[in-house]
Amino acid sequence: MTIFKNSKNFVVNSFYNFKERILFDLVHRTTSSQRLEIEQFISTTPLDHGKDYYASWTSEIKNNHAFLMTHINDDFKNYHFVDLGCGKGKVCLLWHKLNQKKGIQQNITGIDFYYPLIQIAKSNYRKLFLEEGHFIHGNVADFNFLALKKPLIIYLFNPFDEYMLDCVLNKIGKIPTYVVYNIPMHWNVLSNHAYQRIYAKSGANQNQTTLIYTNIKSS
Ligand SMILES: C[S@@+](CC[C@H](N)C(=O)[O-])C[C@H]1O[C@@H](n2cnc3c(N)ncnc32)[C@H](O)[C@@H]1O
Repeated sequence: MTIFKNSKNFVVNSFYNFKERILFDLVHRTTSSQRLEIEQFISTTPLDHGKDYYASWTSEIKNNHAFLMTHINDDFKNYHFVDLGCGKGKVCLLWHKLNQKKGIQQNITGIDFYYPLIQIAKSNYRKLFLEEGHFIHGNVADFNFLALKKPLIIYLFNPFDEYMLDCVLNKIGKIPTYVVYNIPMHWNVLSNHAYQRIYAKSGANQNQTTLIYTNIKSS
């Protein structure tokens, strides 16, 4: 019985990994789907509080883009989109593609503390759009969000632990912000910072669980 259940899980997981990760790379000739465990990162700078690299599911990025575009409406383009822990860049690439389809121009930035991942993100962006994307090598703990001079859409796909999330929210402070949190393991940190939940979705697989929060008070 257990062998049967395990093989069924293997088949289901492989199907979703193909549909939600590998297919994106096949269609766009990018390289984002292969996982890299943080223990394999070779770095001279500390990688404390961070998690493994693995790519977001295509359908989740599309759902989250559609929700925020409708929710924020005309002002959506004025928000600076930042993927914290962007890895190989998939979220930034797809967000830009979805914006293009709707004729929206929006600032998009990806940040990751592992340089080889940033190099891959840049190369993926160049391949897809034939221009340079905005990817920064650095620790989110050191990022100056105020310097962007815009309200923010922050994308989190299970990038780090609660200590780092608390640190990031302190740095964001009072900047009007929406936080998309996929695999929201430490959502309580957002509640502790008085963020309000405006969207919740869950599914059989943890990659299908997303919460969206904001610190913007509704009038
Ligand atoms: C689960 S992956 C998410 C990748 C990408 N956002 C996506 O959805 O496809 C988490 C990423 O966060 C990065 N990361 C973790 N802690 C970080 C930190 N403190 N500063 C910058 N990047 C960090 C890791 O290197 C890893 O690439």
